[in-house]
Amino acid sequence: MSDKPIGVFDSGLGGLTVVRELFGTMPGENIVYLGDSARVPYGIKSLETVRKFAMEDAKFLLQFDPKVLVVACNTASAAAIDTLTKISPVPVVDVIRPSSQAAIDATDRPIGVIATEATVRSGAYQTAVAKLDPSREILAVACPLLVPIVEEGRPTDDPIVTHVLCDYLRDLQRMRPGALILGCTHYPLLEKAIGKLMGPETQLISSGAAAAVEVKKIVAQSGTANGDTKTGTLCCYTTDNPERFAELGQRFGGRKISSVKHVGTDELENLQQNT
Ligand code: DGL
Repeated sequence: MSDKPIGVFDSGLGGLTVVRELFGTMPGENIVYLGDSARVPYGIKSLETVRKFAMEDAKFLLQFDPKVLVVACNTASAAAIDTLTKISPVPVVDVIRPSSQAAIDATDRPIGVIATEATVRSGAYQTAVAKLDPSREILAVACPLLVPIVEEGRPTDDPIVTHVLCDYLRDLQRMRPGALILGCTHYPLLEKAIGKLMGPETQLISSGAAAAVEVKKIVAQSGTANGDTKTGTLCCYTTDNPERFAELGQRFGGRKISSVKHVGTDELENLQQNT
């Protein structure tokens, strides 16, 4: 048993959907979360910039001596998983490899992915699926408008949401994939609307849920689980406004966020330079 936290980071609030999955799978674990809200979105930036931010985020969390480090952000996973794995003294779990595996396990048919521009451009999902099954057809579609739509809190049956989704999902509907990976932290909040448009033959795979299963396995194998009888704590840090983070975070994380502290991006940059 260990009450050491699980460290989780994301470009902002979205990674709280992964925290929700982690608590759903391991209710007793303590979590320390960093949301880099001052520099969000990562999904439209160069992979080089995202890699630099991800290194800083990871180094901040490693100060808490976590048992596992979770890269909740798909874009950061795409840009930096190899680099992070090299520098981290603890296991690093990304969201791309576990969800690619879950999609392969779920179907023999083609696989679809929706994600940010940077994630699609990186080819990370395409590479992960090809490693597991080189002959599997895969189509990845960038959906840049979905992050701001979700952050704005539009209901899933809003006509604007339906219109944007119809446009992004057109080629995927034609392909009729057996599984569609929701390859961005924000998309689970649109799951209902996406499911309706894709139909019952397409299984939706949440990248956070797949990662949570992987984290649980690692924690169990290392004998460091914190038990399921007590409720784990959530301690959040944000590089921007803590009040706004706490207010909006509830929608993503599905629980009240009571502890949010501020950490400046200058502090993160210094950490990166000095370690
Ligand atoms: N967290 C990002 C991801 O999962 C989405 C938001 C952003 O672009 O930073 O790719």
